[in-house]
Amino acid sequence: MHGHPFLCDKGTGLGHSPHPKREPDTVPPTPQLSDLLARPEPLLALAPMQDVTDLPFMRLLARYGGADLYFTEYFRVHAVSRLDRHIVRSITENPTGRPIIAQMIGNDIPTLTRTAKELQRLPIAGVDLNLGCPAPVVYRKCAGGGLLREPWRVDAILGALRDAVATKLTVKTRLGFASVAEFDQVLPLFAKHSIDLLTVHGRTVRERYGPVVHHDLIARAVEAMPCPVLANGNVISADSAVEVLRLTGARGLAIGRGAVRNPWIFAQIRQRLRGEPEFVPVGRDLLRYIHELYEALKPPELREAAMVEMMKKYLNFVGPGVPASAEFLHRIRRAKTEADFFRVCTDFLDHDQPVQ
Ligand SMILES: Cc1cc2nc3c(=O)[nH]c(=O)nc-3n(C[C@H](O)[C@H](O)[C@H](O)COP(=O)(O)O)c2cc1C
Repeated sequence: MHGHPFLCDKGTGLGHSPHPKREPDTVPPTPQLSDLLARPEPLLALAPMQDVTDLPFMRLLARYGGADLYFTEYFRVHAVSRLDRHIVRSITENPTGRPIIAQMIGNDIPTLTRTAKELQRLPIAGVDLNLGCPAPVVYRKCAGGGLLREPWRVDAILGALRDAVATKLTVKTRLGFASVAEFDQVLPLFAKHSIDLLTVHGRTVRERYGPVVHHDLIARAVEAMPCPVLANGNVISADSAVEVLRLTGARGLAIGRGAVRNPWIFAQIRQRLRGEPEFVPVGRDLLRYIHELYEALKPPELREAAMVEMMKKYLNFVGPGVPASAEFLHRIRRAKTEADFFRVCTDFLDHDQPVQ
């Protein structure tokens, strides 16, 4: 077999073993976010992705090198909401050895502050407010990215959260709702309420996942904000990571889809920054990752067909890194059984050519 799949021990740095190593007898303490920010290296975070970046995914990612910091998927917050137990598990059973920040989405101040207090009883490094979700069902209710249309509400929410959150208060934002010009209205609010960390996804809500990421505006946030800023959007490799850090001057990166597509990405970026040769996965490494993803994600009671459907969601992100990706994804979408699904994966990935 060529290449090393680059699996790593939790919290112990990088390894080259083809098999996950045994847990060490004594697990090193989880570093504080402030310790990570005190290091000279860029902070590498896993960006939150609803129904994707859950506990099993984080556990698997940590074995491939892992992020320095994790965000949960968003907790929906409304008048009668209770903490989603599935997301709570990613905090209470956090297997990564790294800090985790809990994200909330909502707009009602009493329920946001109530939820922030509940979250602070859990082992979290911070509470994050979502100001970016572009789903119409969310933004029409003036939550997520919809809040960017009403900066006065953002002002009031952040004021209340700053009082309610004794741990770190963080924000993940897009640049505006309809226009990047709106960014100048919200940016001063983040500074006014002394948030501790800002993640900027360099697109407006209207731009959804379009081709352009406005690095110049992320750079403006880096200049304007007294707190550290993480740049977010389209980082898929060590090359793009280094380029985004250069263009924005950001303190670090938040990586979402790129980490699903390429679980080695955090390790590759660290290698690049240290001037070491980078691990280059070949087809068979990616094939093994897909098998591991299947095993890691599979709830015991889930029917095979439902599991294959679940995998298709992940494979939408993996597909662009596969040679002949359009044909690969076309065939994956038609798979109905586990055997069909892995036949397609094997047809495209059982080789020693570099992928990504
Ligand atoms: C399937 C999916 C789910 C997402 N869920 C969330 C979420 O719960 N909270 C959030 O702030 N952003 C969410 N995002 C946005 C990502 O965190 C990130 O900002 C975006 O994908 C751009 O970064 P990337 O190019 O590294 O993926 C989601 C994105 C995707 C594709």
